[in-house]
Amino acid sequence: MDRRDFVKICAGGATLAMANWNNLVLAGGFDAFPAAKLTNKIGIPLKASEIPTNEALVFSYPVAGVPCFLINLGKDSGKTMAKMAGESEAYDYAGGVGPHGQYVAFVAICTHQMSYPQQEVSYLRFAAEGSEIAGAPKRIVCCAHASVFDPAQGAKPVSGPATFPLLPVRLTYDPVSDELAADGVMGMDFIKRFFGTYKRDLIAKYGPGGYRQPIEGKTIALPLSQYSEAVPAC
Ligand code: FES
Repeated sequence: MDRRDFVKICAGGATLAMANWNNLVLAGGFDAFPAAKLTNKIGIPLKASEIPTNEALVFSYPVAGVPCFLINLGKDSGKTMAKMAGESEAYDYAGGVGPHGQYVAFVAICTHQMSYPQQEVSYLRFAAEGSEIAGAPKRIVCCAHASVFDPAQGAKPVSGPATFPLLPVRLTYDPVSDELAADGVMGMDFIKRFFGTYKRDLIAKYGPGGYRQPIEGKTIALPLSQYSEAVPAC
């Protein structure tokens, strides 16, 4: 990328996050947004190698009202590319980042009927050890209606009623600092529909317009067991 392109992406990212989420597209088909480093709850950047493998971390991106899962698939995961059939288009999933491709992130809104982690409860979770409906370890399960997604394969639906993958979040990994950042998301049309569907709940949680506040610079990633008071296993 030459400097002009880089400047264009930076300037465009800041603009579109506040405006129309229009079409500045990064490699792989991601919509560009300002980069946000993943931190712990007091704002210190996470060390990727210390991210647990037994549950997902939840962070907001690219705006406050969109919950995302950060998952460490572990050192034996391997970087898995996959052909994906998205809701509006096909795309190539390039796999996770990190030395073993083990760090992946997806928007934590079920593509079936938009169940998502809330303070009281999350029916969506990363079932590291497997579960009755997961069928195998390291799958994302949605207990609302038993959809299962494989995060090692771009969160493809594996079973249940969901027919589309969870939306991928683009991560970058700095091998020197061992830190992670998010800088793009795919599927903003779906996110706009989510905002329309849950507007009342989102306003109750974030205040009017608060759920659309851009995330810039950093974003807190909390273990799901701290983010939601109840996480049913199914
Ligand atoms: S909302 Fe997730 S399976 Fe129905």
